[in-house]
Amino acid sequence: MAQRICVTGAGGQAGRAVVRELLEHGYEVAAVDITGTRDNGILRADLTDYGQAAEALRGADAVVHLANIPAPGLATPAVTFNSNITMNFNVFQAAAGLGLSRVVWASSETTLGLPFDVPPRYAPVDEEHYPVPTTTYALSKVATETIAGQMAQWSGIPFVALRFSNVMSPGDYQRFPSFWPDPSERKWNLWGYIDERDAAAACRLALEAPAEAVAGSPAFIIAAADTVMNRPSAQLLAEVFPGVPLTRDVGEFGTLLAIDRARDVLGFQPRHSWRDHVPAESDAEMRRPG
Ligand SMILES: NC(=O)c1ccc[n+]([C@@H]2O[C@H](COP(=O)([O-])OP(=O)(O)OC[C@H]3O[C@@H](n4cnc5c(N)ncnc54)[C@H](O)[C@@H]3O)[C@@H](O)[C@H]2O)c1
Repeated sequence: MAQRICVTGAGGQAGRAVVRELLEHGYEVAAVDITGTRDNGILRADLTDYGQAAEALRGADAVVHLANIPAPGLATPAVTFNSNITMNFNVFQAAAGLGLSRVVWASSETTLGLPFDVPPRYAPVDEEHYPVPTTTYALSKVATETIAGQMAQWSGIPFVALRFSNVMSPGDYQRFPSFWPDPSERKWNLWGYIDERDAAAACRLALEAPAEAVAGSPAFIIAAADTVMNRPSAQLLAEVFPGVPLTRDVGEFGTLLAIDRARDVLGFQPRHSWRDHVPAESDAEMRRPG
């Protein structure tokens, strides 16, 4: 029988991609969001309310929990922290109480020190460059990772945190050339991104990884294999963050947010890049008289 996966935040950017990915791979999906319409099959529930969270998760085998205020600056700092912590605790408590087999949830690259007003200690930044929250949004994710760690111990359920980079849709790639002239414009996340389809695949892989591989509360950085930029990564780092050591060869355009752990443990393999959608040379460069 198909596994039934509850997807929270199913009406959001990542949520829509995850629902698509799971349905394409034969899962049954119970889609939950605070907003939704009759025709998109979403159950409306406010997950800051424990009763609604518990009812929304009932009958699911596992949950992909994406619902949150998804960035700093969208709501006031206290609202962001309180809302996220409350929904995360409620979903986790309900999952443990109902005996779900796994919790996969969206943490964030922001836990690693974004926006890097203080330069990273080294690059590529990996899961050990943590915790460095600089906003209440990032703090809500750090606190949630701590909660997940404790609840994984109590319940024996794996709680898998995916520290997503900036989620992009294929339509977003058209504006990437505007990032290229000024390397400091996207330094705030080391020029990282993740295609929403690869973010969705990471969620599915985290559901499917053998239980012993994700026992406890592991966290994984989930980013594209390349940066948003059309110039070499080592050059970018040296120019914008002089003095930050590059600890290994990352290849010409390789990500400065390390995804080795996700590759090794989850079998994560980013399949999408802006380079498949936009020519790497800007129009201006191509038109420049030779
Ligand atoms: N978008 C990014 O660049 C990014 C990067 C790192 C991590 N994340 C995380 O990934 C997750 C998904 O992000 P997204 O970009 O899809 O955001 P989104 O805003 O598109 O989707 C989030 C969804 O959560 C729902 N939601 C908010 N409050 C709720 C509540 N009280 N009860 C039920 N549903 C509620 C919203 O209605 C929305 O549909 C979030 O947890 C976010 O913090 C996103």
